[in-house]
Amino acid sequence: MDRSIKIAPSILSADFANFGAEIRAIEAQGADWVHVDVMDGHFVPNLTFGPPAIAAFRPHVKTFMDVHLMIAPVDPYIEAYAAAGADMITAHLEAGPHIHRTIQAIKAQGVKAGVSLNPGTPAEAIEYLLDMVDMVLVMTVNPGFGGQKFIHSGVEKTRKIRQMIGDRPIHIQIDGGVTPETAPLVVEAGADVLVAGSAVFKGGSVKNPQVYGENIRAIRAAAEAARTG
Ligand code: DX5
Ligand code: ZN
Repeated sequence: MDRSIKIAPSILSADFANFGAEIRAIEAQGADWVHVDVMDGHFVPNLTFGPPAIAAFRPHVKTFMDVHLMIAPVDPYIEAYAAAGADMITAHLEAGPHIHRTIQAIKAQGVKAGVSLNPGTPAEAIEYLLDMVDMVLVMTVNPGFGGQKFIHSGVEKTRKIRQMIGDRPIHIQIDGGVTPETAPLVVEAGADVLVAGSAVFKGGSVKNPQVYGENIRAIRAAAEAARTG
């Protein structure tokens, strides 16, 4: 599988009045995936996008739409988010008692499936899910908001998960506080997909999109140096 570094800007940090143009701008500036943060005001203390919003983003996404569900319960909404056009749906291990069933339900929709771990959840909790998932998402902030500080225990957790994965074709995604400073730490530990909200969107706009490109390239360069160095 393709373990090259992939940068997935989170549109949680985009201009909420201009999503179509923001998505086109980050893709034109080098984004590999588009990360969409779905929050329910219950599992996390913030509210964002329902399935109609995902359906509205879909025609603008030419790369890969990575939908991170921070909602509980999850299962009643999987079909709607898949029908809205998600390429991958990631659910939280902590969102309910039956994550195995949730992953089965995501796969049954014909989309890729990810499992996410909050900072306080141990790596071992996903041992019996690894034969089912396409991605493990290691949260390096407590989910709910962009712009928080990177939690360093995620680095060792990533290393453990990378060992547990072995030869299986599973991505490791990092989400929260990713910058050119923190990206090398998680890439060296085994991550290949880096979500970044504030570090991609800061200083730029759809009228000044080259800043997005500079920000994406800075994260990618730091990450790739950790691979070869
Ligand atoms: C947090 C979200 C993240 C968030 C990352 O709950 O899952 O995707 O947008 O934002 P930054 O990169 O600013 O930490
Ligand atoms: Zn996210």
